[in-house]
Amino acid sequence: MIPRVKGTQDFLDLTLFNFIVDAIKKHLTIDRFTEIKTPILESVDLFKRSLGLYTEVVSKEMFLIEQRQESKESLCLRPEATAPTVRAFIEGRVVQIPWKVFSYGPMFRYERPQKGRYRQFYQINIEVIGSDAIGQDAQCIKMLDRFFHETLKLNNYALLINFLGCFDDRKVYQKVLKDFLEGPKGQSICTQCMARKERNIMRIYDCKNPQCQQIYREAPTVVDHLCELCATEWQQLQDLLGLLSVSYAYCPTLVRGLDYYNKTVFEFVSQNLGAQNAFCAGGRYNQLVGQLGGKEDQPSIGAAIGMERLILLLELIKDQLPIVPLPALHVIMPLSSDQHALALLLADTLQAQGLCIDLLLEGSIKSMMRQANKMGAAYVLILGQSEQDTKTVMVKNMVTGEEKRVLQVEVAKNLS
Ligand code: HAM
Repeated sequence: MIPRVKGTQDFLDLTLFNFIVDAIKKHLTIDRFTEIKTPILESVDLFKRSLGLYTEVVSKEMFLIEQRQESKESLCLRPEATAPTVRAFIEGRVVQIPWKVFSYGPMFRYERPQKGRYRQFYQINIEVIGSDAIGQDAQCIKMLDRFFHETLKLNNYALLINFLGCFDDRKVYQKVLKDFLEGPKGQSICTQCMARKERNIMRIYDCKNPQCQQIYREAPTVVDHLCELCATEWQQLQDLLGLLSVSYAYCPTLVRGLDYYNKTVFEFVSQNLGAQNAFCAGGRYNQLVGQLGGKEDQPSIGAAIGMERLILLLELIKDQLPIVPLPALHVIMPLSSDQHALALLLADTLQAQGLCIDLLLEGSIKSMMRQANKMGAAYVLILGQSEQDTKTVMVKNMVTGEEKRVLQVEVAKNLS
């Protein structure tokens, strides 16, 4: 057997997957988001330019496509959907802003697989392109929180928020952080953090080493080094979230793994997920449209929900979810091959009336009955020689065991 590729998975039961997709579509439509789809194949340059050259995703995790020799294009499987959405916004010359869109589909990152971390995984990606108002951030976060809490009935999660300031604030803060790390406390950080300090200093906060984490708890915070405008916006965001009754925790070490963020960043995390605890994450990215070639910058905000992680959480409360039950199943059982044609005709007629019908064409009556039971049939429709001769069907109620013979043309009204 050729096994599936490492870090991928087969979904043999899509009940929860489809439940989430249907629920988020309904939820976002109410908020006036529209659905888009972008390709899975994109240029490597798109991500180099947007996520940042030194981010883990770009430097280590890209699935690059080996190209034909004559091709000069460098292609990859998309690792995320924000940069492709922005590319589509620019390329599609969208003029109506804010452009509120969502999409869902597979993403690819060459990460070390573990619980909740895959090399091919699914995201629902939500973006609001072209809005500078801090109220938009609050609304976006509230909309996600309402989805998790009210629609999906999740309880065991927390919302972590930080504010990274504008580009200039980031420059000031990077200098302050560097000074701190060059002081006595910074001498015992790990070698990887030493390298990050020189190359991309904010990435030190991704370090899982407990000693480094202890040191970073005492590091100066970005929110203490914001310009006047950003400080006001940070306060406004907190006030608005309070007004909208969103519970959150301020997390000064939350900087997110992609370089395009500024100002608001957030993650929804759950203890029930283990080490990979974020099931939704996002933030503001005010420069990305300009960076990717848009005529003017479009301040934007968005988030992505990790489907596999959300499914792990929903599996724990599956019984409480309003999953629409499948329609009642009725199974047609011809007793010999002489009744097969009649069985097919009856199935066709009943399916045309919208009934859910399956046929059992093999095995003894006893084994077919057992199988129909296992399939959860509500009624079994038995067709033997005498039924064929009299244009009738023996209808058996699988719950009560009651049997009655009815005319074939009147079967449908006897199935409830
Ligand atoms: P991200 O934090 O890289 O952000 O991913 C968002 C979510 O996708 C994570 O919180 C997690 O639930 C899920 N995820 C990420 N990597 C994996 C993986 N290897 N296996 C399973 N799930 C994973 C972004 O992708 C940004 N584009 C989000 C965004 C949209 N920011 C603004 N707009």
